[in-house]
Amino acid sequence: MPAPLVPARLAFNAEGTPYSLEYDDLYHSADGGAAQAQHVFLGGNGLPERWRSARHFTIFETGFGFGLSFLAAWRAWREDAARAARLHYVSVEKHPFTAQDLAVLHAPHAEFAPLSEELRSAWPLLVPGLHRLEFESGRVVLTLAFGDAAELVPQLRLAADAIFLDGFAPARNPDMWSPALLKAVARIAAPDATAATWSVAAPVRDGLRAAGFMAEKRRGFARKSEMLVAHFVPRRALRRASEPPSERSAVVVGAGIAGAAACERLAARGWDVTLVERHLEPALEASGNHAGAFHPVVSPDDSHMARLTRAAFTFLLEHWRQFDAIGASPEWQRCGVLQLARDAREAASQRAALEALAPPLAYVQHLDARQASACAGVPLAAGGLWFPEAGWIRPRSFARALIARSRARTLYGREAAALERAGTRWIVRDREGEVLAEAGAVVLANAADALRLAPSAHIRLRQVRGQLTYLPPIDKLRTVVLRGGMVLPPVEGVTVTGASFDLEDDDASVRADSHEGNLERLERIIPGAAAGLDPRALAGRTAFRTVARDRLPLIGPLEAGTALYGAFAYGSRGLLWAGLGAELLASLMEGEPLPLESVLADALAPARFALRVRRRAGSPGSRP
Ligand SMILES: Cc1cc2nc3c(=O)[nH]c(=O)nc-3n(C[C@H](O)[C@H](O)[C@H](O)COP(=O)(O)OP(=O)(O)OC[C@H]3O[C@@H](n4cnc5c(N)ncnc54)[C@H](O)[C@@H]3O)c2cc1C
Ligand SMILES: C[S@@+](CC[C@H](N)C(=O)[O-])C[C@H]1O[C@@H](n2cnc3c(N)ncnc32)[C@H](O)[C@@H]1O
Repeated sequence: MPAPLVPARLAFNAEGTPYSLEYDDLYHSADGGAAQAQHVFLGGNGLPERWRSARHFTIFETGFGFGLSFLAAWRAWREDAARAARLHYVSVEKHPFTAQDLAVLHAPHAEFAPLSEELRSAWPLLVPGLHRLEFESGRVVLTLAFGDAAELVPQLRLAADAIFLDGFAPARNPDMWSPALLKAVARIAAPDATAATWSVAAPVRDGLRAAGFMAEKRRGFARKSEMLVAHFVPRRALRRASEPPSERSAVVVGAGIAGAAACERLAARGWDVTLVERHLEPALEASGNHAGAFHPVVSPDDSHMARLTRAAFTFLLEHWRQFDAIGASPEWQRCGVLQLARDAREAASQRAALEALAPPLAYVQHLDARQASACAGVPLAAGGLWFPEAGWIRPRSFARALIARSRARTLYGREAAALERAGTRWIVRDREGEVLAEAGAVVLANAADALRLAPSAHIRLRQVRGQLTYLPPIDKLRTVVLRGGMVLPPVEGVTVTGASFDLEDDDASVRADSHEGNLERLERIIPGAAAGLDPRALAGRTAFRTVARDRLPLIGPLEAGTALYGAFAYGSRGLLWAGLGAELLASLMEGEPLPLESVLADALAPARFALRVRRRAGSPGSRP
């Protein structure tokens, strides 16, 4: 069963030091939290010296608390002229504070005021899982892992250079110092990693030693005479998430939203990117619709789909913030999405999901038909789930904004017809055999056509026809509403409704029978909305979704060790997947901490299909 995320409760002791009612302990030394972070965690890990001249440096922390150590590390990085090009800070936290509480907690630390403000403005919805936030134009990356460390740390993929061990006192918070957790921490430590903690308790020393760390005592902070610093000495070769590339150049094939987002995330890491698109403009195929909806799904068992869509949704909101900050936003609106229950069974399932997850109201809540109608501005047929932060996006504007931000070299009107491996490089050729581009890596973001360029015996993709109907504006409708189909509020004077889901149908034309189906779906959402509309006289658009058998996208290496990657099969949720998919892809390509738990990253890995076949055949095998 999923565990709801329970936020921390704000409290202070008599001296005004932040205090946990849950664990009956202080959040930091009574002699000063910021100075403690500086002495124990930064000093104990040899920072800032150790990150100097690194391309990226990763700090892992147990217990984000209210982020003092993060703010101290960020500030030290900022002030260091010889800093690492990119600082990753990954921190696990079971009871996060709200942004309002962070403001109160940070108030006494005037030296962090501007950083605190930025952190709070990026602070995610308090829902379980990983949340990736970017600061300093992406050079400081905070990955917050909300949930229990015992479950989450074994699910992280990263190679930590420095480790801040900062649970509450071992006697009060033994879970944060258990031998199993310290072993899990060792599994994500880089070979020359260091660790530091204020605790010198015997179980901590013993646990660190058992996990492969050489621990020694040092002078502690303020009134504490001792603290621990440790050096990781792996007993055997470590499996890293992935190795950093030797060359940072890539050809991305396909300028839909998948390829556009891949360009943007790679360029943000300093990659040299060439984008090849067979049409004269980006986003003319599946990503060419007038507008589409984005929202997460929820399920009573918090399924992989629910967790993945939650991660993608919160990532999209952060991406949104980044675009807003530079004033280059695509056309999108967070008008809220209502997902009406189709029948009593779905209504029960929606309620069960909310009970199990107990999510914050800002993520999702239940509305009855009357409340939902008031929210939407029109009378609706049923109640259901309300996602206040979700909304619509115009995919073409999204793709254009991503490509513009990436400054990728664009080759429009050129079709990639063949890939050729030449040493450690890839050459991409057109039908005539002419070289279009070459680079150290290739990303196939060309939907169903990806398998033509990189055939696979195990991957099966379907193309599913979808037709949207474009109607005159439905007056007063102000939210997206879903129920089998969807209807959007008017976007540039057009109401988008649909879509058909037509298997084994390759007809690219716009048809009256598909409009008819869309109007029926619309009637089930807003009774009477389709009255008087003639399906033969309506406008619309047809496109094809690329769908894998398990309806999840394929993101990651296509061939082990060859720098050939895929980002395709985004099915019916490309607007949601594009950002997180590209972040996952770029993190894999760069050998950086992954933005998803490993079970979720594995659920998207193209290798999953071959792995399933091997598992069925009973051989363990390996995966890229
Ligand atoms: C009717 C309909 C409604 C939808 N509604 C929603 C919605 O509301 N919300 C949502 O999230 N998603 C929705 N989707 C899904 C979403 O549109 C897709 O998931 C998304 O657009 C896929 O993006 P993509 O970049 O993978 O593919 P595409 O947009 O198809 O891009 C692939 C690109 O690759 C190019 N290409 C292919 N082969 C080559 C080659 N060999 N060389 C060069 N270029 C090549 C193509 O020309 C194309 O531009 C809908 C889809 C349909 C069909
Ligand atoms: C001492 S505080 C951390 C202070 C923090 N490093 C800072 O700079 O503000 C310990 C934190 O560990 C968290 N914690 C306790 N048990 C946990 C668990 N099992 N999993 C994840 N976090 C946990 C607490 O909620 C608390 O925020």
